Amino acid sequence: MSSALPDPNALHLVALARRSFEHAHAPYSRFRVGAAVMDERGRAFTGANVENASFGLSMCAERVAIFSAIAAGAHAITAVAVSAERSADVTPCGACRQVMAEFCKPDVPVWCDAGGAKVTAFSVGELLPAAFLPQALPPEGAPTRSD
Ligand code: THU
Repeated sequence: MSSALPDPNALHLVALARRSFEHAHAPYSRFRVGAAVMDERGRAFTGANVENASFGLSMCAERVAIFSAIAAGAHAITAVAVSAERSADVTPCGACRQVMAEFCKPDVPVWCDAGGAKVTAFSVGELLPAAFLPQALPPEGAPTRSD
């Protein structure tokens, strides 16, 4: 973890994430979150949390942004930023970390907006060590352990 990054990419992506929480649908938690991600072509995609009256169906800002990127043809995510309207301590939840592990190399930065000019930087590998990865799945047709 490191903080107060002057990295212009970080500041750009955090600015997008900050703007994106305006689009959150968070009437139940009243905790509005915005996210922005960059793909391997340098394209930026944004997301906001979208809640539901059936609470368990709610979706975090980070996953909205990542799924938007993938649905638009991205193959990899190269940077992530997250910003919460009313918290300087937001970091991605466990489910979002697992989704990041699917599309991000372990050294991909996750910039967390800590308010003002301060940004706390983590890496995906740091947020989810020993992630469950696609390589753990057996190839199709492979014998099972009970065969
Ligand atoms: N939330 C996010 O969108 N991203 C995070 O990193 C933390 C939590 C959302 C989920 C829910 O809509 C609300 O914040 C309260 O947990």
